[in-house]
Amino acid sequence: MNQELKPADISRAPIGVFDSGVGGLTVAREIMRQIPNESICYFGDTARVPYGSKSKETVTRFSRQIVRFLKTHQVKTIVVACNTASAYALDELEKETDIPIIGVVKPGAKVAAEVTKNGKIGVIATEATIGSQIYTQYIREINSNATIYGKACPLFVPLVEEGLWQDPVTDEIARRYLTELIDSGIDTLIMGCTHYPLIRSTIGRIIGSDVTLVNPAYETALELKNMLKERGLLNEEPPKLGSNQYQFYVSDAAEKFKQFANSIIKYGILSAKTVNIEDY
Ligand code: DGL
Repeated sequence: MNQELKPADISRAPIGVFDSGVGGLTVAREIMRQIPNESICYFGDTARVPYGSKSKETVTRFSRQIVRFLKTHQVKTIVVACNTASAYALDELEKETDIPIIGVVKPGAKVAAEVTKNGKIGVIATEATIGSQIYTQYIREINSNATIYGKACPLFVPLVEEGLWQDPVTDEIARRYLTELIDSGIDTLIMGCTHYPLIRSTIGRIIGSDVTLVNPAYETALELKNMLKERGLLNEEPPKLGSNQYQFYVSDAAEKFKQFANSIIKYGILSAKTVNIEDY
């Protein structure tokens, strides 16, 4: 049951973070770095990943269930750490949810619109995110002269999950995906999928050092920090010794998730619990 929190307790409540699987750990990692006093309740939908090839209706239904699950953990805010879920479901979730909820698309779009000098911005993401045109929409709200070049890069997700972060195969695929963006003369590139920051060095090397890479995970943690501060929700106290600061839940394959999580988060994740998300 979702018990009411007293106002004094709210800032100590965890931040709910969710993704279709392991990718959102890149966002959780930035939150851990930038606001280390905060507790996190993470949900990875490992049974139903990928979201990037699913419909808006399906991704919205999945996201609603996860929000209901996170709310049973009395989270003070929710971060939709998945670009696809942010693109497809955030508007609906915002309308339905009585706690602040932020996605990863707007923060990345905002920075890209501000840093571009020639107004040519590339976006790489899942098919769903590119098809939704959500980055284009947000960028144009800030910089109406910008030209946005979107490119779906579906193979990057399995390559990252297979651990091929520094591999000739990933180099070759990246070259094929990125050539048309290089040819279009972009000066800014948004890594609009949770997994892509993990192959940042490959993407950066191939796209060239003249192109500024924008990492929405980093920008989202920054925006989250500012939002919590403005609303008086930032936890000013360090977590108590022995407290369960970071909790991880998945819908399947908890052990595999734990191994992946430990390869990117240095904190040391001891357990991930499996949840039947269809119950929510
Ligand atoms: N987390 C997804 C995203 O950022 C990538 C993986 C998937 O397709 O579910 O869009």
